[in-house]
Amino acid sequence: MIGVRNGHPARARMVALGAYVPDEVVTNDDLAERIDTSDEWIVSRTGIRERRFAAPEEASSDLGIKAAEDVLANAGIDAVDIDTVILATTTPDHLFPSTGALVADAIGARNAAAYDLLTACTGFVYGLAQGVAAIEAGLARCVLVLGAEVMSRILDFDDRSTCVLFGDGAAGALLVAGDPDQTAGFMGFELGADGGRGRELIIEGGGGRLPLGEHPTGEACYLQMNGREVFKFATRAMVDSARELIDSLEMPIDEIDLLVPHQANVRIIDHAVERLEISPERVYNNLERYGNTSSASIPLALVEARDEGKLVPGSRVLMIGFGGGLSWGSAIGHYEPL
Ligand code: UT7
Repeated sequence: MIGVRNGHPARARMVALGAYVPDEVVTNDDLAERIDTSDEWIVSRTGIRERRFAAPEEASSDLGIKAAEDVLANAGIDAVDIDTVILATTTPDHLFPSTGALVADAIGARNAAAYDLLTACTGFVYGLAQGVAAIEAGLARCVLVLGAEVMSRILDFDDRSTCVLFGDGAAGALLVAGDPDQTAGFMGFELGADGGRGRELIIEGGGGRLPLGEHPTGEACYLQMNGREVFKFATRAMVDSARELIDSLEMPIDEIDLLVPHQANVRIIDHAVERLEISPERVYNNLERYGNTSSASIPLALVEARDEGKLVPGSRVLMIGFGGGLSWGSAIGHYEPL
């Protein structure tokens, strides 16, 4: 990537979406054969009915490559024209090289800067903000923002309150520099983080504080969550973040065509929908089929909303994410396919 401010303002335009989910469907009944749970409990407490698990040989980059190829096929753009790949993930293949770099190499994005964004489930919204900022500052013209996850690798199947919630998948969006006179683009973002509550949702091991060489097994390798605290945080953060953004734009909520929230728990989403006073017909959910795919959940929902005709050219979308950090973020932007 070479970024040079050339004096011509550009507006970032979201022109294409794409996704990939692994083949293996794991139903609630499948999980109930393995752990002490039931379809009734999972559906009533979360809204999730099934999720996908990656094959043993598949890692986040493998899913990310297929999602990226789908984005490019939808955009009709060659990978050499991409100048930045931002890959949000909770489950990078390695600490480094970045999974973003592995995906960029595999798809032939040889002119791209590439990196990973570790903001857990909020990663896609953070990634959009970075991509939009790079384009509008004149530092990039074509940015691929992906979320790619193999959450099944970090689940503790002895912890029934968390292992039933998550699934694997990858999805993303392509942002390009558009003419400000012809592109509605992104209207704004609200992003935040509270590291003081970071331990509520954590994978403790594998970093510099608790190297796995010294602690190779046990719960430090797995996602640990204080479900009730995260639930309380999520209900508040979704509403506060979206409201702050909408209010600062002085935009009535009925000017939002579609709300695509992070797909974690239908009770959390319903609470936000009620508080934000947005009509439920303008909300897209697909968590019953995929569970919580972390950073992939919002773009995967965008793709399916597009395929079902609920996201159409020109749609104004409100996306709201929350997750580990604890972090949160809202974005309002338009879907403007080429
Ligand atoms: O991307 C960020 C992600 N995280 C989230 O969004 C998670 C936020 N938290 C939640 O969604 C909810 O807190 C959970 C779904 C994790 C839990 O739901 P809950 O209504 O808060 O349940 P609970 O933790 O209060 O547990 C209620 C009961 C307990 O039994 P007792 O103590 O009342 O006898 C649990 O042991 O449900 C039991 N339980 C289960 N039972 C069957 C917990 N997990 C299960 C399970 N199957 N999988």
